Amino acid sequence: MSVYVCVCMAITDRQICEAAQGGARNLKDLRRDLGVARECGHCAAYARQCLEEAKQDQKKRDKTKRLVTVNLF
Ligand code: FES
Repeated sequence: MSVYVCVCMAITDRQICEAAQGGARNLKDLRRDLGVARECGHCAAYARQCLEEAKQDQKKRDKTKRLVTVNLF
């Protein structure tokens, strides 16, 4: 289930997560790629939080992937 993070631009947390996987690293990247916080700006703090959580999840997945790779060889 997705929730809207930016109502003005109809951007969901899932889209922010996908943007993080695609290389978005900060709010400026989200604004450029998705249009987050381009209108009223009320979503900026929550969008930043979603991005940070997505980046942390990505790091955990990468670490797990490395451990699995190391254990395979
Ligand atoms: S809620 Fe994101 S710009 Fe208004």
